[in-house]
Amino acid sequence: MKATLVTDGVYRLSANVDNILFEGMWPVPAGVAINSYIVKGEKCALIDGVCGWDGVPETLLAQFGEMGLSVDDIDYVILNHLEPDHSGWLDAFKEIRRGFAIVTSERAKPLLEAFYGISDNIRLVKSGDTLDLGNGRVLAFEEIPNVHWPETMATYDTRSKTLFPCDAFGSFGSVADDAPYDDTLQEGQIRFFEREMERYFANIVTTFSVATQKAIEKTKALDVRIIAPGHGIVWRRDPGRVIDTYTRLAGYAKGPARAEVAVLWGSMYGMTALGVQPVVEAVESQGVRTRVHRIPETSISYVLDSVLQCSGVVLGMPTYENKMFPPMAAVLDEIGRKKIANRRAFRFGSYGWSGGAQKELAEIDERLRMKWDYLEPVEFKGRPTGDDIALLRQRGVELARSVRRWALGTES
Ligand SMILES: Cc1cc2nc3c(=O)[nH]c(=O)nc-3n(C[C@H](O)[C@H](O)[C@H](O)COP(=O)(O)O)c2cc1C
Ligand SMILES: [Fe+2]
Ligand SMILES: [Fe+2]
Repeated sequence: MKATLVTDGVYRLSANVDNILFEGMWPVPAGVAINSYIVKGEKCALIDGVCGWDGVPETLLAQFGEMGLSVDDIDYVILNHLEPDHSGWLDAFKEIRRGFAIVTSERAKPLLEAFYGISDNIRLVKSGDTLDLGNGRVLAFEEIPNVHWPETMATYDTRSKTLFPCDAFGSFGSVADDAPYDDTLQEGQIRFFEREMERYFANIVTTFSVATQKAIEKTKALDVRIIAPGHGIVWRRDPGRVIDTYTRLAGYAKGPARAEVAVLWGSMYGMTALGVQPVVEAVESQGVRTRVHRIPETSISYVLDSVLQCSGVVLGMPTYENKMFPPMAAVLDEIGRKKIANRRAFRFGSYGWSGGAQKELAEIDERLRMKWDYLEPVEFKGRPTGDDIALLRQRGVELARSVRRWALGTES
């Protein structure tokens, strides 16, 4: 990767990481960029770090070199967020550079000690505090707790009006050296990052949607001309576009989301599977798009993305040992933990003798306070009959109509 100029006195340094599971669990087939920034006044500040997944900051040091900088030129290290994807380079950095000051939030202090054994030379800042780098370059800080850890803050360069919000406004997806800015990308490429942003949001940020909404309000109160996040591309031409996308996604957690239906289904011997197509056809007959995922074949990362974006969810799964088909229970548990609430939903499935999937579904919804609004379920013994299929079609139509009314705001 190469260091690039964001705007006068502000540089972007970055590393693309692939062949990993992000947070140890989310696939990133198109990789993910981890961004760091340098802001130069008379003094020089490094905002968040960048390193390989192994914590070695070779990428960072090479990019210093390209800019004609050495580690000794760094006066301040600003840590917006202590998660190791942004701070993992500190161990190696403190070995080669002494005498720099760390600028971070109060709540970051115990984390700095716990992760890196650092307790000296820390300047704690809170919302409204500033740091004067000289030459008319003043940085301001804004706490944005829980986007994504409690200590998270954003840094704002008052001169170029660039916001450095770390995880907020980020996305998955590797970024090309020669096109790290929205104004250097074609519309199709920006759309790619927006799709990766949706999945990133669903996987990383959804649980913190309320905190994110507060952070967005703080962002809107500032005169922001450039958004330079810790992951993904920098928004220079149209920062409003990424603010709108995040506003939309944060709203989806409580619903309504899009007028679409996610269909999640799992089946051992194909009995429940016989019901999937009729339901999908019925939903789509109402002009409502579906996103169909087989469980457990589909990674939960993509399932979360679909469920976050859809106002309606169909769940098809059989009974297994008096409970629900276990991989579906695991998926629902994760959806509930991500606090994706208030969906219009419908469940169907096959059983052999006693059933039990339905009871567990109710338990999960209750335990995780999901408040999903379910239509009457359709359960069939073994293979579905013609009547069962007809009933499934009826429910599909009913769900699609309900989803449309809710998502389009035409409910009385
Ligand atoms: C391992 C296993 C455990 C099952 N446990 C139950 C059960 O506890 N109660 C029940 O009513 N049916 C149970 N069944 C029967 C299935 O629910 C039934 O075969 C159903 O048709 C499976 O649907 P599928 O082909 O979509 O997986 C079990 C089946 C299997 C294979
Ligand atoms: Fe994070
Ligand atoms: Fe991150």
